[in-house]
Amino acid sequence: MKIGIPQEIMTGEGRVALTPQACKALVDAGHSVYVQNDAGINSGYTDQDYQASGTVLIESAQQLYQQAQLIVKVKQPLAQDIRFLRSDHVIFSYLHLAADIPLINTLCDIGLCAIPFESVADELGSLPLLAPMSRVAGRISVIRGASLLFRNRGGRGVLLGGVDGADPGGVVVLGAGVAGRNAVAYAAALGARVDVLDLKEHKLELLKRRHPAINTHLSTPALIEELCVQADLVIGAVLLAGRRAPVVLKQSVVKKMNPGSVIVDISIDQGGCVEGIRSTTSEELCYIDNGVIHSAVPNMPAAVARTSSQTLSSAILPYVMTLANQDLSVQGCEALNEAESPQAEALQRAIAIQHGEVVDDVLRQELSK
Ligand SMILES: NC(=O)c1ccc[n+]([C@@H]2O[C@H](COP(=O)([O-])OP(=O)(O)OC[C@H]3O[C@@H](n4cnc5c(N)ncnc54)[C@H](O)[C@@H]3O)[C@@H](O)[C@H]2O)c1
Repeated sequence: MKIGIPQEIMTGEGRVALTPQACKALVDAGHSVYVQNDAGINSGYTDQDYQASGTVLIESAQQLYQQAQLIVKVKQPLAQDIRFLRSDHVIFSYLHLAADIPLINTLCDIGLCAIPFESVADELGSLPLLAPMSRVAGRISVIRGASLLFRNRGGRGVLLGGVDGADPGGVVVLGAGVAGRNAVAYAAALGARVDVLDLKEHKLELLKRRHPAINTHLSTPALIEELCVQADLVIGAVLLAGRRAPVVLKQSVVKKMNPGSVIVDISIDQGGCVEGIRSTTSEELCYIDNGVIHSAVPNMPAAVARTSSQTLSSAILPYVMTLANQDLSVQGCEALNEAESPQAEALQRAIAIQHGEVVDDVLRQELSK
């Protein structure tokens, strides 16, 4: 299989989908791996590292897309990538399609096969390729929120962990999934007062056992309002898999929050869980609305590109290997039907777009809303 790894071009990106070590495993298995020049440089991997692992370096994105059939990247393709995509390509990356109808239409028009990382689910419904970035984003959300609370950043001037003779800051985490749990762990470790809400009791029980000092709550709109209006930092980490993020924090509640308090909406990549929130970037981390600082960066893990590339690469490698081992050149993604492995089955279930149509049932339901 000819596998292509383009350079990521979204603002603030520095991640690379596969590290040189992962590429070597693919090369050793008999595949050709093409890597765009400097694709790994912001993750600390030089072109020489890639060459030493047996990959072929390619100068431009255009040539890379020309050479490869299986495109493995981190973030969804932007206009600069889209012009090089063809109907015989298989694209395997984060796509967040439920929040991006124009991208769905474009990928359908091209006629390629699109498999979103975030749709790959194991038999228990866990999302093994979303989880690594959710762990990173959950941890970053607390660090980012804590620093935006500084006076010089426009914040309330609250030290999240507090200090002798002063109150700790209050953190409300919406969602006790992978990102939420990691945010809770970091906030609790700092010494902040933590409230976490979810719809699933068992997730809350697990968190409470791990962090006895936190408060856990079954999520209701009334409770979200009661807790968020008093919070210093609200972290949005909710997800309904495959769907646009549910809007759980209404504008009417944001208007009642303390001036200088902070919202970090991790769920922005799925459209955001705060009513009316806009995406921000690593260059413009936040904006202030109604006196409240809003930060909503869709590629938060890019801030720690090396760490993120390493954890992402090891998570996706077994799936890239499975895809590469199929004969995609003749049958496209249908070749997965014949493969018998948990990875092949998970990939098959995750296909979102194929032959010009949306084939994912949940995504189809979202589109019909
Ligand atoms: N911005 C970024 O850079 C970045 C990086 C990684 C992940 N994410 C996003 O973070 C979000 C969370 O991902 P995850 O892996 O933690 O998902 P997850 O499925 O592990 O957890 C989501 C949780 O939200 C809960 N939930 C759903 N509706 C709720 C409601 N109304 N109130 C309270 N809880 C509710 C679910 O029960 C679940 O426990 C996703 O949108 C994901 O795409 C963003």
